[in-house]
This record gives sequence, C-alpha cells and structure tokens, in this order.
Amino acid sequence: MFEFKDQVVLVTGAGSPRGMGRVFAQTFAELGAKVVLCDINKEGVDANVKELTAAGFEAAGFAGNLCKEDEVTSLVDFVLERYGRIDVLINNAGISQKVTVADMTLKDMERIFSVNMFALFLLTKTVCEVMKKQNYGRIVHLSSVSGKRGGGVFGGAHYSASKAAVLGFSKNLAREVSQYGITTNCVCPGLINTDIWKSMSPEQAKPVIDAIPMGRPGEPEEVASAIVFLASKEASYITGEEIDINGGSHMD
Ligand SMILES: NC(=O)c1ccc[n+]([C@@H]2O[C@H](COP(=O)([O-])OP(=O)(O)OC[C@H]3O[C@@H](n4cnc5c(N)ncnc54)[C@H](O)[C@@H]3O)[C@@H](O)[C@H]2O)c1
Repeated sequence: MFEFKDQVVLVTGAGSPRGMGRVFAQTFAELGAKVVLCDINKEGVDANVKELTAAGFEAAGFAGNLCKEDEVTSLVDFVLERYGRIDVLINNAGISQKVTVADMTLKDMERIFSVNMFALFLLTKTVCEVMKKQNYGRIVHLSSVSGKRGGGVFGGAHYSASKAAVLGFSKNLAREVSQYGITTNCVCPGLINTDIWKSMSPEQAKPVIDAIPMGRPGEPEEVASAIVFLASKEASYITGEEIDINGGSHMD
C-alpha cells in the first residue's frame, strides 16, 4: 500500500530548513517517488535537494515565486521536461503574520492571500491541465485549523480567511475535475513542531499546549502520513474532503 514508485510528486514551500515541506518531500521519496521541491528560497531548496540526492533519492529543485504567473509556468515546464508528468501536487507554500484586524492593512491582507490562495490557485490551475491529459492526479492543499475555527496561534484573521478560502476552492475544484481522475483534498494541521513552535518561550507555550487534548504539538511526519494517504492511488474515492490533524484541539 501507498507506493509511489515512478510517480512524480511536486511539493511547494519545500525549501524551509525545518518546515513541513522538506519532510513531505522526503516521505514521498522514501516511498519511491521522484520528488520536485519548489520554494522562493533558492538556498533552502538547493540544500534540501542535496540532502535527498546524497541519500540516493531522485529529487530536483526549482527556485521560484509562485505568486508570479510566468514562474508558475516555468515550474510546470521544468517538471514536465525532467520527468514528463505530475502525479501529485502538494500545495504547502504559505505565509503568516500575527496582527489584529485593527492593525491590519489592506497590503497585509493582499500579501497573505497572494501566497496562501492566489499562488495556490495559479499552480493548481496549471497542474490540473497536465493531470487532465494523464487522466490521473492527486492534489493536497495545506489549509489549517485556523481556517475552520479562527484563532490561529501565529496568524491573524487574514491567515484564517486565506486558509478557509483554500477549503472552499478545493471543494469547488473537486466538482470540476473528478471526471478526469483528479482528486483534491485538504489537510488542516493544528500546532506543528516547526520553527515557529520552537521559538516560543515556556510561558507562551503553556496555554497553547493546555488547549490540546493530546498535550503536545504534532510532528511534521504526522501530517505527512495523512498527506500520503490522500495522495495515494488507494484514496481514489475521496475528494473535496479535509482531514484535521490537531491532537483534538478542534473537532467538527
Ligand atoms: N507549522 C504549523 O504549525 C502549521 C499549522 C497549520 C498549517 N500550516 C501550513 O502548512 C504549510 C507549511 O508550514 P511550515 O510551518 O512548514 O512553514 P514554513 O514557513 O517552514 O515553510 C513555508 C515555505 O513556503 C515558502 N514560500 C513562501 N512564499 C512563497 C512563494 N511566493 N513562492 C514559493 N514559496 C514560498 C517559504 O519560503 C517557506 O520555505 C503552510 O501553508 C502553513 O500555513 C502550518
């Protein structure tokens, strides 16, 4: 089960040194996939690709800003030239900002949406045309618990709104592309053990942990497991869905 041999998996936001994208890429590589890591952070992409290829995995990197339509086109061309297809797209790139609505500017709102929603739209639209021709595709978007309940620990209302937008986008897309063998689903992580979490002091962390029934943040590998399932051939009748991965901090 959950074999990705000869499949091509594209992961965005995979240039972060300790973020989730790197772990997703490694997990798919371990399952036999050819992985393409994309990020605006060239140094980060290069380092993560180097680590994977040194370990014997098939991996390639692309540095680009996914908010720019021409760079999205170049990314998809790059993957097709190199590997000839795209089986799985993991829309992981995202940004956040802790600010109240009272202090938020329109520019803040635009910046958050431009990465979390508009870039995701541009890449998904382009990749869907490839997947339609293949009559096969799996798309998984990183939404967030804060897209469902608001009140993200690290984000503002613009972050919550952008992650809620991703849920609606994915459901509508599911209605359009199911006929081509493409599924589109979301994961909604709660607090995950990445850099942001590590930067919190014990005083800041205590109320956050107290609100999680499991009493700890999630690990990137625990998000990767759910993503692998949704991206697998076996999840063939699941689309327009979302999986909460939050240690019980939000249940619906
Ligand atoms: N960490 C958490 O607790 C948590 C919880 C819920 C949801 N999420 C979501 O999961 C995803 C990954 O989170 P993370 O904590 O690993 O984040 P991260 O900051 O470590 O990684 C995000 C990556 O996206 C890249 N990126 C930003 N703008 C880009 C652009 N325009 N083009 C290309 N790449 C761009 C960044 O350079 C960065 O490497 C994000 O979408 C985030 O909103 C995270």
